[in-house]
Amino acid sequence: MYSSKISGLGFYVPDNIVTNHDLSKLMDTDDAWIQERTGIKERRWIKEGSGDTTATMGVKAAKIAIERAGIDKDEIDFIVFATLSPDYYFPGPGVMVQKELEIKTVGALDVRNQCSGFVYALSLADNYIKTGMYKNILVIGSELHSRGLDKTTRGRGVSVIFGDGAGAVVLSRSESPKHGILSSHLHAQGEFAEELIVKAPGMGTRWVTEILQENDPNDESYFPYMNGQFVFKNAVVRFSEVINEGLQANGLSVEDIDLLIPHQANLRISQFIQHKFRLSDDKVYNNIQKYGNTTAASIPIALTEAWEVGKIKEGDLVVLAAFGSGFTWGSVIIRW
Ligand code: UT7
Repeated sequence: MYSSKISGLGFYVPDNIVTNHDLSKLMDTDDAWIQERTGIKERRWIKEGSGDTTATMGVKAAKIAIERAGIDKDEIDFIVFATLSPDYYFPGPGVMVQKELEIKTVGALDVRNQCSGFVYALSLADNYIKTGMYKNILVIGSELHSRGLDKTTRGRGVSVIFGDGAGAVVLSRSESPKHGILSSHLHAQGEFAEELIVKAPGMGTRWVTEILQENDPNDESYFPYMNGQFVFKNAVVRFSEVINEGLQANGLSVEDIDLLIPHQANLRISQFIQHKFRLSDDKVYNNIQKYGNTTAASIPIALTEAWEVGKIKEGDLVVLAAFGSGFTWGSVIIRW
């Protein structure tokens, strides 16, 4: 068995900053409500005409990660792309990254799994490397939410939360068994699939021809629906469980954590977990204040930013954890 380590990481967010005050011009909301309930001050939303899409943002983050890994793009053996906001209904953006980076015909896999998408993708890549199938896997999480949100008062409970951006890592074969990804734990609970959902254009309930014929401007099924309080309550329980599960599987305890990077769902959720585990401020990394919730991109963006500012050093125990639509949740334990 080989081990796998993160050999390069990068992120990209659009330049366009949208503050809470900017949102209050679009809908009945205000800075105080958003900050109090979510901790978010601003988020990035693409500017029309910028050319940014989920795939192109993923490519920008990937280029940085590949350069930092010190490898040539042609050494990438496989691509895994996690997103809930693909450029096309199909094919997914994995193949578009392969095309844009002009990487030879390596496999490209798309992962859904929403807020847990990056954790699922990393777990998959880790296991491909551990079994010896691949040496360098590009793992991307990227989201373009701003085009899909209901930016009226009707959608304010959801639209103020989400932001655009992308993060990427190169996961590489390593000869050091003590360093790298120690474990991953993944879970799902489909009975709550409808509690956080975008229904359209799903084939489960309607024919596409019906949707086109109706052409209903008030059709809300294209916008995200979230049962916010229910999601919140489940999130705090599952985050805690899956972090403990990962630690226990490795004979580790909360005191061993050097840095916890929770999926940036809501600052209040992160703070709840921090207090529950009695972690000091320097042991939890949050950047939702600047970027909002970027679902599958939030962990690789936060991981890269934390690494860039020197918060992650060799030998550190880094814990990644996510929860979101599905419900799906998971954790990854890394010895850096
Ligand atoms: O990343 C994937 C996982 N997602 C999450 O983990 C999100 C989990 N949930 C949450 O973060 C919170 O539930 C929210 C931040 C989404 C909402 O906070 P909340 O405290 O649960 O608010 P609420 O939905 O219960 O709404 C409370 C009130 C309502 O008004 P009334 O009925 O009490 O008069 C809403 O209409 O706040 C109102 N409201 C707003 N007011 C101003 C909802 N959204 C807004 C808004 N601005 N943007």
